[in-house]
Amino acid sequence: MSTKSNPEMSKDIRLLEDLFEYIIPKYLEAHDIMISMLDFPVTEDIRVADLGCGFGELSGRLLEMLPTATVFGLDKEKRILKRAKEKLGRFGDRFKGLQCNLNLSAWAAGLSPLNAVVSSFTLDYLTLDRHREIISDIYGALNHGGRFVSCEFFIPADEHVSTIFHDLEIRYIQSSLQRGEVTKEQIDLLSQSTILRQKHHICRVDTKIEWLHSAGFKRIDVPWRFLNLAVVSAVR
Ligand SMILES: C[S@@+](CC[C@H](N)C(=O)[O-])C[C@H]1O[C@@H](n2cnc3c(N)ncnc32)[C@H](O)[C@@H]1O
Repeated sequence: MSTKSNPEMSKDIRLLEDLFEYIIPKYLEAHDIMISMLDFPVTEDIRVADLGCGFGELSGRLLEMLPTATVFGLDKEKRILKRAKEKLGRFGDRFKGLQCNLNLSAWAAGLSPLNAVVSSFTLDYLTLDRHREIISDIYGALNHGGRFVSCEFFIPADEHVSTIFHDLEIRYIQSSLQRGEVTKEQIDLLSQSTILRQKHHICRVDTKIEWLHSAGFKRIDVPWRFLNLAVVSAVR
């Protein structure tokens, strides 16, 4: 159904956008580290793909930091991508929003060679088999020396870490509500959202590191970690 024929549909998208920083602890800090890992000269015409770009928060920050970069924002949700394009309209052609399903390797067609691939809070929506496979797609799409940086949720070795994270998440959302940064309507919508509340497939950080090694990546590292969240970086 198009948003034109159902105004409520575009309202739910509006309510969901800009929520992440108030519901995911350390959301912006994780992006800070991801961006810092992309230390390209500001004058270089680099090409970056943002897999599961959502409303374009990370893409926008990359476009600001790298004034000659082109960012390809990929997402399967047409309505979310439409908002990302509107929000990043000030960057003109430097942001190219592309609708695609990351479950299919075709996402990379026409984008290669890429200098960097980033992905935040998205790859854990893919099954573990597909997560492993997409790492090879990414390796194939990057040029030599190109960098892949992602941030997702991981299974900790000690289950107590998840308990701490879960408790913190609840307190974090409650404080955001108290400060009026989010509304109860937004939180209720989030819990029902078929777009964002999908099954997650999480693995151990060590498993992801093994997948990166097998795909051929070098200089694999975990530059940032906070409880269940980790930023993983690797170079082709
Ligand atoms: C939690 S949001 C994160 C958005 C953004 N990266 C950020 O940090 O704000 C996850 C995004 O991944 C997208 N997504 C999930 N599965 C996908 C798939 N198979 N193909 C393409 N996009 C997908 C969703 O539509 C959503 O916009």
